[in-house]
Order: sequence, then C-alpha cells, then structure tokens
Amino acid sequence: MFLIREGLLKPMYKYVPTLTDYILREQENFPRATGRFTMLMTQIENSAKIIASHVKASGLVDIIGKTGNTNTFGEEVQKLDEFSNKLLVDTLISSGEVYAVVSEEIPDPVFAPKESKGEYIVYFDPLDGSSNIDTNCPIGTIFSIYHKDGGLLQPGNKQVAAGYIIYGSSVMFVYTFGHGVNGFTLDPAIGSFLLSHPDIKIPEDGVYYSINQAYEALFDESTKKYLEHLRTEAKSKLRFVGSLVADAHRTFIKGGIFLYVADKKQPEGKLRLMIEVNPFAFLTEQAGGKALGAKGINPLDIMPKHIHQLSPFVMGSKKNVELFRSF
Ligand code: AHG
Ligand code: MN
Ligand code: MN
Repeated sequence: MFLIREGLLKPMYKYVPTLTDYILREQENFPRATGRFTMLMTQIENSAKIIASHVKASGLVDIIGKTGNTNTFGEEVQKLDEFSNKLLVDTLISSGEVYAVVSEEIPDPVFAPKESKGEYIVYFDPLDGSSNIDTNCPIGTIFSIYHKDGGLLQPGNKQVAAGYIIYGSSVMFVYTFGHGVNGFTLDPAIGSFLLSHPDIKIPEDGVYYSINQAYEALFDESTKKYLEHLRTEAKSKLRFVGSLVADAHRTFIKGGIFLYVADKKQPEGKLRLMIEVNPFAFLTEQAGGKALGAKGINPLDIMPKHIHQLSPFVMGSKKNVELFRSF
C-alpha cells in the first residue's frame, strides 16, 4: 500500500514477518532440512491459537455450562488444562511429525502409531500456572523438542527447539532454535503471530526478584541470607505471579531473577526438569542470561533419570544470578 505525499510515493506499511515466515526463513539456513520441523512448529502454533481463544472465553464456561453443558465452541465443558492437554496430544500424535509426546498431565509418554511416526519428541506443559486461570492472571504453554534418535531421556543441551506461549495482556509466542530468541505477538484481527520482539536479550542486571517467599522458613541458610541481602537493597522489587511462564517472561523482558529452589518440604524443588526447567534454561542461555539447576550446575547438562524428574531452578540476568551464586 502506498500513500502519495509531497508528490512522492512513500510507503505507508512495512512488511512484518509472521511466525510461519520466520520459521520458513530459518529453515533455509539448513540445506538438508526437509520441512518436517517447520510442519511440527506450525502444529504447535495452531494449537496455541486454539488454546488462546479458549483462554479468552474461559470465564464464560461456567455460565454457558449451566444451561447446556457446552461452551461457546459447542463442545462439552472441559477444564482448560485438560482441554489444552488433549488438544496438544491429539494434534501432535496425529500430525505425523512426532515419535512421542510427554505431557505434564500424563504419567507415561504417548507414542505415535506406527503408520504416522515422525522424527521428534515433544515435551510440554499444556497449561502452566493453572492456579491463575480463575483470576485472569497470565498463564502459558511450554514446549521442548528433541530429535527421537537420542531417546526419551536426553540432557537439555540436546534440545532442537524450545519455547512458550504466554496468554497475558497479549498472546505471545517466544521460541529458540539455538540461534537467539524471538518473540511474536498474536494480532487478533488477522489471527497471525507477528514478529514483535526480535532477538530478545535479558538485561545484564535487573531490579526484580521472583520467588515464593512464603516458603522462606523452609529454605537453606544461604538462600535466606541472599533474600535478606536483597531486602536491604533499596532498588529490589519483588514480583511473583505463580506461573513460571509469566515470571520468566518478565525476567526476559525486564531482567532480574526467578527462583524456585529446593526446600525442606520439596527437596528436589517443584518444577519439572524436562518440561519446565530445560526449555527455560535453553531460552535463558540463548537470550544471554544464566540458569542454574540442582547444586548450582547448568540444568542443561544433567542427564535425566525419568521423564517427570524435578529440579530446582534459578534463571535470569547474569549479574543477578551470579550474586545469588556468591551466597
Ligand atoms: P502448573 O500450573 O503447570 O502445575 O505449574 C505451576 C508451577 C509454576 O508455574 C510456578 O512457578 C509454580 O508452580 C508455583 O508454585 P507455588 O504455588 O508453590 O509457588
Ligand atoms: Mn507448569
Ligand atoms: Mn501445567
């Protein structure tokens, strides 16, 4: 589209890549790529759009459910996390692109049938922060992709891609392929994710710290001392949503630190290594930040023993994470 101004033809609109454009372009960097990975990412993108539309309508489920037990989509009323789980499992398993999927909601891996087995294993948390659904706080979906050749249990440094979708004041799709982190915002008018946050880099330093401080009495002495120190710093600000996706997303954009450490009641922490920690550790590294897992080592180097293994997790701006480590 062009607008005539001062006798010159001046462009009025500019080209903004969509998520699909971007993934296709990235694929061009791999001469042997077959397009299968792009197909897989497209399935995740489509599922994210469907989940996003359900998240928006979630407050209506009770009202509409009372009369007909069907929601605005004409489907039986389902809890949002169960719906998201079923949607992702069914979509990915029938896509022909996955060998198996592992969902936070299902104890065992789900394998694709012989006739439609693909090359990838996808780990996902279909709806992260589910305690926030009823209160309109941000929630998300997390995914982590491996090639099937390494088997179900692979260290996080073998991830082919990882990302999350945040259903917040806007819907964003953020992912890494191992070449930086890019963020796309859903334009509801056209139904496409548009590149809004190219090459996300975590600020070197940040004022926000994010931890469930209600557990402080259960923390070890060094974590307690660290928190005491933060409280003496005039610049510190505490933020804790209780959705990892939301707390980590803020950390990517504004900097600071997020912690879900081990404590006396949860000696291995609460977050899942392969479903929550590793995708965010990969994104953090790619965004120039730092991540720590059990015993302060990089979670991406841990060889998992089982698919639902737990791990403590600290991530964020380099300076903030180094300060935590110094305690
Ligand atoms: P999920 O809703 O997928 O079960 O995950 C919730 C997780 C994570 O998103 C968040 O960081 C953490 O639980 C909060 O736990 P606490 O309520 O113990 O603070
Ligand atoms: Mn979760
Ligand atoms: Mn979940």
